Parts: sequence; structure tokens; C-alpha cells
Amino acid sequence: MEEVFFMIMKESEINNIYENLEKKIEAECKRMENKIPYWTEDGIYQQDYAEKDIYWWTNGFWSGILWQLYHATQKELYLNTARKNEELLDKALHGFTGLHHDTGFMWLHSAVADYRLTGSQEALVRGLTAASVLAGRYNPVGKFIRAWNPDCVEEGEDCTGWIIVDSMMNIPLLYWASQITGDPRFSQIAVNHADTVASCLVRDDGSCGHIACINPETGELEQILAGQGYSETSSWSRGQSWILYGFTLSYRYTKNNAYLDIAKKTAHYFIANIGLTGYVPLCDFRQPASSSYLDASAGLCAACGLLEIAEHVDEPDKNLYRSYAELIIQNTAETCCNWDPETDSIVQNCKVAFHNDRREQTDLIYADYFLTEAILRLKGKDFLIW
Ligand code: GLY
Repeated sequence: MEEVFFMIMKESEINNIYENLEKKIEAECKRMENKIPYWTEDGIYQQDYAEKDIYWWTNGFWSGILWQLYHATQKELYLNTARKNEELLDKALHGFTGLHHDTGFMWLHSAVADYRLTGSQEALVRGLTAASVLAGRYNPVGKFIRAWNPDCVEEGEDCTGWIIVDSMMNIPLLYWASQITGDPRFSQIAVNHADTVASCLVRDDGSCGHIACINPETGELEQILAGQGYSETSSWSRGQSWILYGFTLSYRYTKNNAYLDIAKKTAHYFIANIGLTGYVPLCDFRQPASSSYLDASAGLCAACGLLEIAEHVDEPDKNLYRSYAELIIQNTAETCCNWDPETDSIVQNCKVAFHNDRREQTDLIYADYFLTEAILRLKGKDFLIW
């Protein structure tokens, strides 16, 4: 049988998105100076998260965008602005008490990216310090990395034994630390944690839960919580993208086929759902029909994960994952993006959480990060930040 491969996006379309993106980020960069952005108000990044909350989990994504563009263009503007972001994060690294398990999101995109691209020894120390903080949250009885501290949960709730799917994107920091130091302990913790996430949060149909509450003394699973999704049995789309991309990354570092199988299973669930809403996912794939909340950030993170899966499979499967990634990128670029360089943030139609979220739909800095990574992956100009 003749093999048929589909090209969804034309090269000119990819280049056009990239050019618009770079023009906009360059303009933002000149406006931002030392600020760390999260979301806009009236189209402008007004709040500086270096001031508002230096421990905030998204505080590395701006420098992640800049390091990706520095790698692609070699423009000093991006390097210098990313370095300022990295230095600002020292207040969190040394402050310590406000740190959660998000050290991966925060320092893979800042110090580790810097080290990978420039070899900076200061950045290396920051990255290894962040990895040690993450490893220090490990519970050896339950074989998991604790997610949050009490400030993230309701008063009276004990989160000592909580794990969340987002963690799968933090543990590459541990794989990296093992590679750099030659000490397998970081990676052993990552693998044990990934196995616990797989057994507690990945469902048989390929969907996943958000929060698992594990007894921190005995290691027994006690409860699943809805977290940022609609309910404990529903399907929060960004959690789904964290798990599909996260297990692909664990496969990349360990070559354990069980992780690639989980990545594919969770990807197939994502693909089966996303076509129903024009390739921009609902906030929760099982939210009530009366709700139309979308979350473009979930789609773009999943697109990067699908492109990563494509790197580890042969044709014709490679074509399947790449095609769905392109459908997501193309539709998001057409229907959810603001390309005006005079205003901040590109990707709109995002959602922080289904409940308790004062913004109906918003922009989010990590959606712009995943758009940047996705388009650079299509151009073959990205570098591995995870
Ligand atoms: N908890 C991280 C996220 O909003 O995806």
C-alpha cells in the first residue's frame, strides 16, 4: 500500500506566524524592562510578578520565550532580558519558604536554559539548587514529590501528601540534574514519582485526574480531587496536556517504553476530544454542555507534546502526531491570537481553572511560551528547554 502523509501547514504559513510572533515579542521586550509578566489588563502587562509574587509558578515562562528566541535569532536583546528575569528569581530561590514543586517550571526556563545555551556557571548553580529543592520534597514511603504548601489550599486542608499532574513537567529538572552531576538519585526520584502519578492519576480510558491525595505516612491513595477541572471524574484539558507532554519527556530521558505508551494513550484521548471544538480545547473535556470555556494554553502545550511524541515514533505514526499538532497550532493562530505589537500577549481564550476563576477567558504567559516552542519546533529552530 502506498504511504500517504499529510501536510497541514504550508511553510509560508509557519513562517508568517513566526514572523508575527517575533515582531510582537521584540516589541514586548522593549516595553517590559525588568518586569515578569503573567497576564494582561486592558491589553497590557500591568502587574509585575517579580513584585506581586516572586514565587508564582509561571515566573519562568517569559524567560523561556526569550531563550527560545535567543537560540533562534542570536539577538542580544533576548539574552539580556532573560538574564534579568533569571536574576530576579534569586529572591525566590534564596527565600525558599514560598517554593512549591514548580521549581522545574521556574528554573528550567531560566537558569537551566541559560546554562544549556551559554554554559554560565552561575546559571548551573541556580539550576542545581532548584533541582535539590525539588528532590527535597520527595516522600520515600509514598514515592512521590509533594506538590504544594499550605498557602495553596483551603484553611484546614492538609496537602502534605498531595500530588498533581502538572508535576510531570517539573521532573525533567531532576533528569537534567542527574545528567549534569552523574548522580542517579535525582533521576531515581523522578522515575518513582512518575510511576506514582501513572498509578494514581492516569485513567484506563487515557484521561486523567488533577490531584491525588496520598497518606504521607503510609503512602496509600486516599482521594482524587477536581483541582482546576470541573469535577474529580471530569477531564481538565490542561492537566491532560501536562500528562501527555510530561510522560513523553520522561520517556525521552529514561527510554522506558511504558512512559511512551502512557504518552500515546493520553494523546489519543486529547486528539479524540479536540476535533469537536475546532482544535482549540474546552477548559474541561467533560464540562457541562452549557459552558463554552476554552483553554488555548492546553492545546498549545499538547501540540508541543505531540511534536515530541513524533520524534520518538516511526512513520506513519509520526505523521499522525505531527498532523494533529499542526491542526492545533493552525487553528489557534487563526482564531485565538492577537498579533498587534502595540498590545501585550498573543494567545487569548485561555482559562486558569474551571471554578473559582474571576476571569471568564484570559491570556496567560505560558500559552505564549508554548506557541513559541511549537512554531520553533515546526521550523526546526527550537532547543530542548525541558
Ligand atoms: N497549576 C498549574 C496550572 O494552572 O496548570
